Amino acid sequence: MRLILLGPPGAGKGTQAEFIVEKYGIPHISTGDIFRKNIKEGTELGNRAKAFMDKGELVPDSLVVELVADRLNQADCKAGFLLDGFPRTVFQAQSLDGILERLKVTLNAVININVNPKVLVSRAVGRRICKNCGATYHVENNKPKVDGVCDKCGGELYQRSDDVAETVENRISVYMNETMPLINYYDAQDKLVNIEGEQNINDVFSDIVDALKG
Ligand code: AP5
Ligand code: ZN
Repeated sequence: MRLILLGPPGAGKGTQAEFIVEKYGIPHISTGDIFRKNIKEGTELGNRAKAFMDKGELVPDSLVVELVADRLNQADCKAGFLLDGFPRTVFQAQSLDGILERLKVTLNAVININVNPKVLVSRAVGRRICKNCGATYHVENNKPKVDGVCDKCGGELYQRSDDVAETVENRISVYMNETMPLINYYDAQDKLVNIEGEQNINDVFSDIVDALKG
């Protein structure tokens, strides 16, 4: 299965990605996670990406496309992959078309998770993530059993530095300007699957599974 997860910040892409990759046995490729790992490790890529991410701006296309091309060339992507947070601009989508053409593969679907912008800010600001395994929680909607501790691995939960209201609002407006045009882009390729993202987490997932059967 070769899939893209599309949707605004806080729509639930990372949350659904955990379920999707487990069900279909495919690698999860999140450009946001790759950048955060590089920031943590203090690499040159991380240092360059950090300034953009802290402001809620997009990292320049030139830094993103090559990284994804290298990742898709790796052996574990032969059986499929889930791209989460990429592509995010028309340029990135066109570049991905070129990469897939060279690999002689096509996408099965682009899953577009729809959530009202008003809901997105509280979702992002209330998000907590496990430092150890990356599992995602929410202080109200998806609480861990013990405050601040991951159910899965016992790791400590933290808040992302770009999950403050002002930065989230900027990320939403960047999404509207730069990424929303991809909805039409993939609709025109007949790949788009729209999913109602304001249901509970399990219902969103079961709609995704149903849509992928179709
Ligand atoms: P990235 O890491 O991709 O973040 P994002 O797209 O802003 O998405 P989020 O991770 O914020 O949200 P999500 O949809 O995964 O929601 P989640 O499942 O966590 O990008 C970060 C930055 O990196 C960008 O701003 C940019 O600078 C840079 N970047 C990354 N990729 C790039 C690219 N391709 N080009 C250029 N720059 C790039 O859910 C959110 C919360 O809601 C959680 O707390 C969760 O528990 C809760 N929740 C989830 N589903 C539900 C539900 N159904 N009901 C109730 N609560 C729910
Ligand atoms: Zn954990």
